[in-house]
Amino acid sequence: MAKVFLTRKIPDIGIELLKQKHEVSIFSDQKNPNKQQLIKNAQNADAIISLLSDQIDEEVINKCNHLKIIANYAVGYDNIDLKVAQENNIIITNTPGVLTEATADLTWTLLLATARRIVESDKYVRDLKFDGWGPELLLGRKTYGKTLGIIGFGRIGQAVAKRAHGFNMEVLYNKRTPLAQDEESKLGARFAELDKLLKESDFITINASLNDSTYHLIDEKEFEKMKDNAIIVNTGRGPIVNEKALVKALQQNKIFGAGLDVYEEEPKVNPELLELDNVILTPHTGSATTYARNEMAKMVANDILAAIEGKDPVNRIV
Ligand code: GLV
Ligand code: GLV
Repeated sequence: MAKVFLTRKIPDIGIELLKQKHEVSIFSDQKNPNKQQLIKNAQNADAIISLLSDQIDEEVINKCNHLKIIANYAVGYDNIDLKVAQENNIIITNTPGVLTEATADLTWTLLLATARRIVESDKYVRDLKFDGWGPELLLGRKTYGKTLGIIGFGRIGQAVAKRAHGFNMEVLYNKRTPLAQDEESKLGARFAELDKLLKESDFITINASLNDSTYHLIDEKEFEKMKDNAIIVNTGRGPIVNEKALVKALQQNKIFGAGLDVYEEEPKVNPELLELDNVILTPHTGSATTYARNEMAKMVANDILAAIEGKDPVNRIV
């Protein structure tokens, strides 16, 4: 029997799989451990299931020296020091694929909700301000036939592109290595340098992962290049956008609006964002469908079972 430590409760379907063979302990179903609590609870563990909000740094890895595997319950893994994990022969896995459609759906939810001012509209009705149909009441932006610029064109970015076809949109994308021509034509999307994408897009979605090359990729200078009525949606990672520059662009109505699922200093949200009507805020719920979260739970459990048996887990990163 191996020891598996979960920093937070995940859906039962994953826990049951692990409990059939191993000893499972869960920090809490309400909150994550701080670093000292994490080390204290995980130092004898053979496996950890971590969340994207757990910082798995050098100190944690060095002090938890029984670890064979850390299974991150997320597709992104910028919270883990991969280099130190690798040096210590610890396997790292993530949960790609099963959350792609859920996250693409939330990207589109925020895009349309921002364009059509859905949160403002809902508040308007609840505040009993609706006293009759108005020719110029709560006017928003047209999406049909407009240009969508997708930053980060992995599984999720591509799923966002596919949804754009029903809106007859022109789709531009930017990523480090452009796709092959036949892949592009299948997706009906064209590679664009960031500069061109920012200047030509009516809607910009961020579907990239966070790394040295995407940190503050969208900063003051980039907001300057955007169209006056641009809408930006971020369901990737907060630090890809300089949040101060975003607040300024929104306050000055430099762009039409923003839909945000992620924040620069999560779970802290810049208080200035809370004051603005032209931004819609969700609490990092991109993958929050019952289906996706159950599939993610099975994935981390099966990868841990494999690693403990000395097999190569399916979703191994290093
Ligand atoms: C969520 O942001 C994830 O990386 O799964
Ligand atoms: C993101 O692009 C993913 O791997 O789903």
